Amino acid sequence: MRLNSPKYLVTTPRAWDSGDVLLDEKHIGEQFDPREMFDTPSQRPIEVEIGVGKGTFLLQRATQRREIDFLGVEYARAYAIYTTDRVRRAQLDNVKMLCADAKQLVESQLVDDSVWRVHVYFPDPWPKRRHNRRRLIQPLFVEHVRRVLQPGGQFLLVTDHREYFEQIIRVVADAPGFARIPFPQLLEDSDHVVGTNFEKKYVKQGRPIFKTALIKYI
Ligand SMILES: C[S@@+](CC[C@H](N)C(=O)[O-])C[C@H]1O[C@@H](n2cnc3c(N)ncnc32)[C@H](O)[C@@H]1O
Repeated sequence: MRLNSPKYLVTTPRAWDSGDVLLDEKHIGEQFDPREMFDTPSQRPIEVEIGVGKGTFLLQRATQRREIDFLGVEYARAYAIYTTDRVRRAQLDNVKMLCADAKQLVESQLVDDSVWRVHVYFPDPWPKRRHNRRRLIQPLFVEHVRRVLQPGGQFLLVTDHREYFEQIIRVVADAPGFARIPFPQLLEDSDHVVGTNFEKKYVKQGRPIFKTALIKYI
């Protein structure tokens, strides 16, 4: 039996076989392993950035860390396209973009133990009390971030919003299987924590920046 005979080859191409940087929610399956999106060996680490906006952090980190694969997630189509264009122009073959709702992605689509880092920088704060429930960082979401992380994997959060940060700290303190660690140095040659557009704008305005880093233990 020849295993490479056409009879045994997988004939249905996945969306990411096309070489496209930008993938749409409808292209991905109900459940998938993000490591399969890349042509690189599957044991390479993968980092997921949620809400990339204009992609400044993603571009900088993926350029500096070519040995890591990156999946950027953004549900605003215009920003997803904008960042994808930057990725193409920078010829970064270690980045894929997904235009999708990260809540759905994390809570039901990413498989267990598949991601090395999850980055969430300046998530929408939904400051009005009646809108607080739209915030991304909720107990169920955090539980699933832990599920998709590999043991020893990290969940990194930064915000300028004090009250949202206090909520985040309460939620993660109650989440089993996470321990807080010092926030890692992610970028070379930068005085910023993560150097996103929102961080740069808020630092100029003199606003405080709050950050936390968590590690998944078994
Ligand atoms: C305040 S902006 C911050 C953008 C960028 N991280 C920065 O710091 O410059 C929040 C971004 O997250 C995106 N976003 C919010 N909720 C999301 C979700 N559930 N899934 C994917 N993207 C989301 C928004 O469209 C927006 O681009």
